[in-house]
Amino acid sequence: MNQASFRRFDESHLEEWHLIDARFRDYQADAPRRVLEHLQRLAGDHHGYPVDRYEHCLQTATRALRDGADEEMVVCALLHDIGDDLAPANHAEIAAGILEPFIDPLNAWMIRHHELFQGYHYRHYFGQDRHAREQFRDHPAYERTVYFCDHWDQVSFDPDYDTLPLKHFVPMVERVLGRPPFGGLPDPIKENTQ
Ligand SMILES: [Fe+2]
Repeated sequence: MNQASFRRFDESHLEEWHLIDARFRDYQADAPRRVLEHLQRLAGDHHGYPVDRYEHCLQTATRALRDGADEEMVVCALLHDIGDDLAPANHAEIAAGILEPFIDPLNAWMIRHHELFQGYHYRHYFGQDRHAREQFRDHPAYERTVYFCDHWDQVSFDPDYDTLPLKHFVPMVERVLGRPPFGGLPDPIKENTQ
């Protein structure tokens, strides 16, 4: 059997779920390759910015790396805008969703809120409150999110910056996204058969 034969879940069998679970693990293990493939879709269209989103992501990660950030943070920097093409109005949620199972919850919070924090540098040009991020001043991830935006993200639109190529970051992405999701979920199949 290499494929389940059920037509509906309530007619499925344990052996079929063993098969599906094994396939899912292979699929999950290949996720870093697909994520990086998607990141490269951001190349080309600059939307009026001085650099395209792909260059911006690489540059943000390069700056984080050179500033001494740990590997998880560098990967956050690399992927923080990966949702720009699929969800331009809600892009931070996409990156947060991809990374959340594998990283510190405070880093996931940082990614999820980076757009608002980044807005400190441009919201006033749109008649909005640039200090909106201050509502989170007491949050434990406030300082790191401010630092992420002010020192790595908002400054990474420089076409003349010595940005590292993607291949430099590939092993880091593979290691971080290769961690057990959510620190290792209980295995539902094993639980069922014990
Ligand atoms: Fe960004």
